[in-house]
Amino acid sequence: MKTLVTGGAGCIGSDLAAALLERGDSVVVLDNLSSGKIEHIAPMRDHPRFTFLETDLENFDSVASAMQGVEMVYHMAANPDVKFTEGDATDKDLRQNLVCTYNVLESMRRCGVSRIAFSSTSAVYGISPIQPIPESAFFPAPISLYGATKLGCESLISAFQNLFGWRAWIFRFANIVGPKVRKKGRTVIGDFITRLRENPKRLTILGDGKQAKSYLLSEECIGAMLYIVDHAQEPLNIYNLGCGDSLSVLRIADMVVEAMGLSGVEYDFTGGEGGWPGDVPRFRLDPSKLNALGWTAKRNSEEAVRIAIQTTLAAMPVAAHVDNACKP
Ligand SMILES: NC(=O)c1ccc[n+]([C@@H]2O[C@H](COP(=O)([O-])OP(=O)(O)OC[C@H]3O[C@@H](n4cnc5c(N)ncnc54)[C@H](O)[C@@H]3O)[C@@H](O)[C@H]2O)c1
Repeated sequence: MKTLVTGGAGCIGSDLAAALLERGDSVVVLDNLSSGKIEHIAPMRDHPRFTFLETDLENFDSVASAMQGVEMVYHMAANPDVKFTEGDATDKDLRQNLVCTYNVLESMRRCGVSRIAFSSTSAVYGISPIQPIPESAFFPAPISLYGATKLGCESLISAFQNLFGWRAWIFRFANIVGPKVRKKGRTVIGDFITRLRENPKRLTILGDGKQAKSYLLSEECIGAMLYIVDHAQEPLNIYNLGCGDSLSVLRIADMVVEAMGLSGVEYDFTGGEGGWPGDVPRFRLDPSKLNALGWTAKRNSEEAVRIAIQTTLAAMPVAAHVDNACKP
């Protein structure tokens, strides 16, 4: 099978591309390297079934030409940063998420490609009164531009799937954690490690520290995606990817402090329920639908974060001000 992975030089996309190669697919990675890294795909570059195209999804003609002969698309490229900071352009998510997804879908239609898997997010749910949140409890009320445009991407995929008789898989990821390092964007684990290396006595924590979210290891996320594509055979398949529990930011701070061998660290809280505008302070994903399909995460949120802290510490050279891998 010839498979196109958009965003395949990213944290999750590159692990996915490696897993698809391992399964015997011919893999084309399309990435503009905006947040992805060439070193993420370096181990695959010489593989005879691997191709890398440094291309921007905003360029429709390039996307259409990359689509030739493709049988399945994993659309992972996005502006991965959920944070909105005062002064940011408000059309960034619109272009990077919605317009790019349209370009992918329309070039698929023109080239006769009819299978797409998409990395969506728990951010589409916004602040849900039901916890843990099942896929069926659909609250189209995201509170960030990221979540809003991801929900728009899901809608576009649903429409293309229905109009042209495709099969589609939509994954609403929990917070995905893993060892890969990138400079742009901040995640809680990498952020804490960076700050504590700068000052091992005090740690600034965004919000009130009570934010609590579901976490899933990157390697488990890849396993779940491939399992769902193999086993979910509805025309449109929507799944939460995560485990049913959550972990607080304060607990993660304690775990990072302990893993770094520190003690007596004083915490300063910036205050407020969320860490930044558009942050969903608390959520748990209901994984029952995925469990019923036959896949269950081996590690709960705390175990996933514990492993990610170790691998992130090992991956972050001391004195380098970088943050850790994958984030919502
Ligand atoms: N990591 C998480 O916790 C999490 C949670 C929910 C959803 N997701 C989604 O999973 C996907 C992968 O996330 P990630 O954490 O690996 O992020 P990432 O930044 O490592 O990967 C995104 C990739 O897309 C590429 N890209 C972005 N815009 C592009 C464009 N216009 N054209 C071509 N390539 C482009 C980037 O260079 C990067 O390689 C994203 O769609 C993200 O929204 C991630």
